[in-house]
Amino acid sequence: MNRSVSIFVCQSCGAETRQFFGRCSNCGEWNSIVEEIRSKSSASSRKKRTQIDQKSSSHRSEIISLEKEQSFKRISTGYQEFDRVLGGGIVPGSLILVGGDPGIGKSTLLLKSATNMALSNRILYITAEESAHQVRIRWKRINHGESKLHLLSETDLEEIIEELYQFNPEVVIIDSIQALNNENLTSAPGSVAQVRECSACLQKVAKKRNIALLIVGHVTKEGALAGPKVLEHLVDAVLTFEGDRLGSHRLLRAIKNRYGATNELGVFEMQGDGLLEVQNPSELFLSNESASGIATIVACEGSRSIAVDLQALINPSTYATPKRTATGVETNRLHQILAVLEKHIGLTLSRHDCYLAVAGGLAVDEPAADLGIAMAIVSSFKNIEIPKKTILIGEIGLGGQLRPVKQISQRIQEAIRLGFEIAVVPEGISSNELKSIKTKDIQLIKVSTIQDSLFEVLGLKSN
Ligand code: TYD
Ligand code: MG
Repeated sequence: MNRSVSIFVCQSCGAETRQFFGRCSNCGEWNSIVEEIRSKSSASSRKKRTQIDQKSSSHRSEIISLEKEQSFKRISTGYQEFDRVLGGGIVPGSLILVGGDPGIGKSTLLLKSATNMALSNRILYITAEESAHQVRIRWKRINHGESKLHLLSETDLEEIIEELYQFNPEVVIIDSIQALNNENLTSAPGSVAQVRECSACLQKVAKKRNIALLIVGHVTKEGALAGPKVLEHLVDAVLTFEGDRLGSHRLLRAIKNRYGATNELGVFEMQGDGLLEVQNPSELFLSNESASGIATIVACEGSRSIAVDLQALINPSTYATPKRTATGVETNRLHQILAVLEKHIGLTLSRHDCYLAVAGGLAVDEPAADLGIAMAIVSSFKNIEIPKKTILIGEIGLGGQLRPVKQISQRIQEAIRLGFEIAVVPEGISSNELKSIKTKDIQLIKVSTIQDSLFEVLGLKSN
């Protein structure tokens, strides 16, 4: 007889209880516990389950010598930006999770990459969310050449595993993991139990057959990958695709990568006929405007440096508590810099509203942006423009002193490439780091305190 039991599963961390709670006792999340019906030991379902397990692990592993292992070749996605974030391309047999908000462009990115890869590899695109017809319409829109991409529209896990064995592809794209269904589980597709089971079964097949799996995962409204914590340790790489849906550029980042660095950034632009990679992102984030309150910094994202404009607006406050808004910069960082400016320069910023934004929606969370933030604030406060073609790099300490930052020569090189003429940098940088910079390319102004930089950049003497 098929007996059903009711269990309650936290959709955030996967913890199971026998009873409903408003708050998960394991992860502390509110309203995340959902009832799932689990059928107990039906003979047929047990048999089916063993079949899937057997299928996914029907090949024995063998002991190998690490030294003798043949060198593998990474598979290029056809996008240099995507390859760099992956650490140089897709490693055969790896499991990669690509997360992002709905509608951000995950399917478009992966369909185009699959099309590119299919020119020289055996690629299968499994669509569980859209019908084959819908995918074909999108594919026609973004692909104008020939392609040998294979498409499967299927949601049933057992069928998918069967196809993987028969078709034997090199790379499989699954769009999305939340739409897959393992019939042995009674919980709905997208629940933690389904996501966990489906991913584990697929991973077994992928590792045994050396198939690289790219899995699409949706992000919950809180911004985490749905069913996420249960997947993150299982997969080899977790990438997130983010950006402002109303804007056209998209950023691809690696949060975890067993085969490459995690701080790499890929920049794309969504156009009418698919995603284009942006190889020169500085141009995207530089506004080329001249007004007070605009400062330019060079941010470092992994191996690449990007010049970005910061904009500040300072206005007298009409309320007792002034308003502080920061977009793309941590609000605490803004508070700290405002406090330093008030204390050491004597600006009455506590009676002013302050709005700070990074152009183009990029998030800049490194201390090297401090000098740029401070100069943008003072420039708006005093209504004096920062001289054109000037780049500001440096971390500000609580005492108003300027501290050296990492990758300084890389940042200055990017500024030179973009035609900047003056770089304001902290005094304490070792000359060794500036070895590669030629004085004829850019004028370096070394400053040791925030007061010095105000004088050098805006011609202001602090009182
Ligand atoms: P999609 O890849 O379906 O997003 P996801 O899979 O992350 O949910 O992207 C959908 C959005 O992208 C949609 O709003 C329209 C836009 N888009 C373009 O602007 N140009 C294109 O060529 C394509 C295919 C989509
Ligand atoms: Mg999609």
